[in-house]
Amino acid sequence: MKINFNDSKKNLVRFTFKDDFSNEFFDGSIGEVFPDLNDNLIYLGLGEKENFDREIFKEAVYKLGRFFLNKEITEISFDDNQLGLDKEDYIYNIVNSLILAGYNFDYYKSEKTKYNIENINLPASFNSYEKNMEELVKVIDAQSFARDLVNLRSNDIYPETLANKAKEELSKYGVDVKIYEEDQIRQMGLTAFLQVAKGSDNKPRFIVMEYLKANDDQKPLVFVGKGLTYDSGGYSIKSSDGMKEMNSDMGGSATVIGALKAIASNNLKVNVVGIVAACENSISGRAYKPGDVIKARNGMTIEVDNTDAEGRITLADAVNYGVTEYKPQMIIDLATLTGAVLVALGETYTGAITNNQEAMDEVLKAAKETDEKIWQLPNDNFLRKYNNSEVADIKNSGGRLAGSITAGQFVGAFIEDYPWVHLDIAGTAYLSKAQGPYQEGATGVQVKTLYQLAKNKAE
Ligand code: BES
Ligand code: MN
Ligand code: ZN
Repeated sequence: MKINFNDSKKNLVRFTFKDDFSNEFFDGSIGEVFPDLNDNLIYLGLGEKENFDREIFKEAVYKLGRFFLNKEITEISFDDNQLGLDKEDYIYNIVNSLILAGYNFDYYKSEKTKYNIENINLPASFNSYEKNMEELVKVIDAQSFARDLVNLRSNDIYPETLANKAKEELSKYGVDVKIYEEDQIRQMGLTAFLQVAKGSDNKPRFIVMEYLKANDDQKPLVFVGKGLTYDSGGYSIKSSDGMKEMNSDMGGSATVIGALKAIASNNLKVNVVGIVAACENSISGRAYKPGDVIKARNGMTIEVDNTDAEGRITLADAVNYGVTEYKPQMIIDLATLTGAVLVALGETYTGAITNNQEAMDEVLKAAKETDEKIWQLPNDNFLRKYNNSEVADIKNSGGRLAGSITAGQFVGAFIEDYPWVHLDIAGTAYLSKAQGPYQEGATGVQVKTLYQLAKNKAE
C-alpha cells in the first residue's frame, strides 16, 4: 500500500451525512457507499450528523474498504474535509481502516479475494505525516503476519513450523532467532513446559528472539507469548465445540512475533527479547495427567489440578527464563489464557494484571495511543490463595471464581520481583464475529500496543 500526499481528485471520497445527499441507492447511512464514477466521486455515508464521532468514522471507512473487495479500483483520494476530527485522527483512521479492510484470510480457499487498492491519496498539506504513515503501514503489515499465524490451522502451524516461520520472517530484519529442541529445552531446565508438551508427537520448540539495538545499558523489554499451537485440553478434555478453535491458542506468541517484526522493520533503537514456549496439549499414553505433581524451572512444585490449565504452566517456565536470563526493565506476557476473561470482558477488552502500577500505566498508555482496549483487573492477595495446593507449592487452577485473575497470578508466581504486566487476550485475539475494523477470526491484537510501548522506550 502506498500513501501519497498529492491533492489527487481520483475517486475522491465525499463524506455524506444523512440528508446531505440521497438517491434511490443511497441515503447516507453509516458505511453506505455510492460510487459516482463518471464524476470520479465516491459518496460515503456517515449517518446522522449529530451522532458523528471518530468511532463512526472508523467504521464507515472500514466499510468503504470492504466495498472495494473484488473490484478493479486501485486508487482512492481524500480531501481535507476533516469533519471536526484532529488531523492525526483523521488520517490515521483512514489509513488504518482501509488497510485492515483489505485483510482476508483466504489461504485455504481455491478462489482468492482481491483487494486492488494500492494508492491512498491524502491532501498535500498533510505531508508532515508522511513518515508516520510509512511506519503505520509497516506495523499493520506485522499485525497481518501475526493474524495469518493464528488463522492457520494446527495441521500447518505446529511448534516446528511456528518456530521456522518466526525465524524466516524475523531474520530478514536483523532479529536473532534461536530455536531450541527437546534435549536443549531439558538442559535449560524448562521441566514444567516439557510436561505439557510430552503428550504430543509434534515435538516442542523453545523460541528466543533477540533484537538488541539500543545501548547495552538499556535493560531489555521481554515479551513472552503463550504458544499452544493446539489445546485439546489434554485428559481434562474440552468439548468438541470448545476445542474447534484451539488452533488460535498460540495467539500470544503470534502477537510477540508480530511485535518484533513491527519493531525491527521500523528500526527502533531499543532492546527487546521475545520468548515463546511452543507445544501442543494432546492426549496419549505419554501425556501428563490430572493429579500429577510436576517441577518448574525455578524449583517450585505444581499440582496439576486440570490439564486444560496448561498455558500458565508453559508460561511459568518461559517467564522465569525471561527474568533470570535477561533481567528486564519490564516483562509482559500475552496469552489466550482463560475462558473467564471472555465472560468478564467479552471480545472487546484484553484483561490485565500487574505487580507494578508504573509498568501497567505505561502499557495502558501505549494501548490508548494505538486504539487497543485493555482493562486492568485487581491483583488481589486474597484471590491468590485460590491457587494454594494441599500437596505442592501451587496448583494450576484456582477454580471458577475470578478465573482470569488467579490464572494471571499463577504466572506471576514465577516472575520474581521484576516489573510485570500480564495480558489475557483469550477474548480479543480471535473474534467469533466481526468487530470494529476486524473480520471474524484472528485480530493480531496488541501488536500495535507492544510496538508503541517499545517506541516510547526507544533511544
Ligand atoms: N486456551 C484456553 C483458554 C481459552 C478459552 C482461550 C476460550 C480462548 C477461548 C485455556 O488453556 C483453558 O483451557 N483455560 C481453562 C482454564 C480452567 C481449566 C481453569 C478455561 O478457561 O476453561
Ligand atoms: Mn487449556
Ligand atoms: Zn490453552
